[in-house]
Amino acid sequence: MKVIRTIPELRAFVADSRARSRRVGFVPTMGALHEGHLSLIRSASGACDDVIVSVFVNPTQFNDAGDLQAYPRDEEHDIRLASDAGADVAFVPDRAEMYPPGFATSIHVGGVSERWEGESRGASHFDGVAVVVSKLLLMVMPDAAWFGQKDAQQVAVVRRLVSDLNVDSEIFAGPTVRDSDGLALSSRNTRLSAEERVTALGISRSLRSVVARADDGEVDAGVLADHGRAIAQDAGVDVEYWAIVDPATFEPVERVGEKVALAIVAGRVGSVRLIDNMTIPAV
Ligand code: PAJ
Repeated sequence: MKVIRTIPELRAFVADSRARSRRVGFVPTMGALHEGHLSLIRSASGACDDVIVSVFVNPTQFNDAGDLQAYPRDEEHDIRLASDAGADVAFVPDRAEMYPPGFATSIHVGGVSERWEGESRGASHFDGVAVVVSKLLLMVMPDAAWFGQKDAQQVAVVRRLVSDLNVDSEIFAGPTVRDSDGLALSSRNTRLSAEERVTALGISRSLRSVVARADDGEVDAGVLADHGRAIAQDAGVDVEYWAIVDPATFEPVERVGEKVALAIVAGRVGSVRLIDNMTIPAV
């Protein structure tokens, strides 16, 4: 696997792939790779000839300097894991390569980015995601790019952005990878104590219970969300939001069953903020 650190080198690699009619796949990450990331790389590798994985801790999407500072970084480990999962290129730019002095452009995806994560993490979070994802997609111009359903609102923001800006890349959402106990994999899970981890299981349990209750015939989204919130809270999770939304717009829905809906939850366990979601299928 090739490690590329500059944009001209990345463009040269992609130009060569294109000249040979190879299908280019792209998986953007911030490193600290785990099975969730690796499943996306494997999907890309199965569908494309050349797979580029970016590893860049994007400062513009953090609104807390401490959080950015504390973000785990282990480049060597990430490069090895990405390579083993089938990546052909690791694009590892430094901050100045991505944001040289004078950088002044912002991208705001309206509507879908405003609530939930947009509200909890600050409006600038998704603006930062939008600008870095736009830059990366413009550099790579992949045939297809993979994002994780774990960050469902991010997927919806990226789909809106790609559609609005006519980016010619197909966007795929890979299913959330979980530990055997149900906890969605996240680089933040390592910060949970053994006791906190047990508490955190209340999040996925609340989602599963709501999906089961919808399956049993409950259609009132308010009743379902209250049920989910209560389960997570009883487990000891400090719930920030527990809601049922349209998976494309992230507007709350009143009823489930007619269309596919998405149950979303964010909460704190100790000092660790966790998010998760599950689909409620149409009947
Ligand atoms: P990061 O948190 O590193 O995640 C990279 C990709 O892996 C995202 O698309 C995320 O949804 C996916 N992912 C994380 N945990 C997952 C899990 N348990 N199962 C499946 N997929 C999972 O998300 C970002 O980075 C950044 O915002 C980025 C898109 C790279 C822009 O900076």
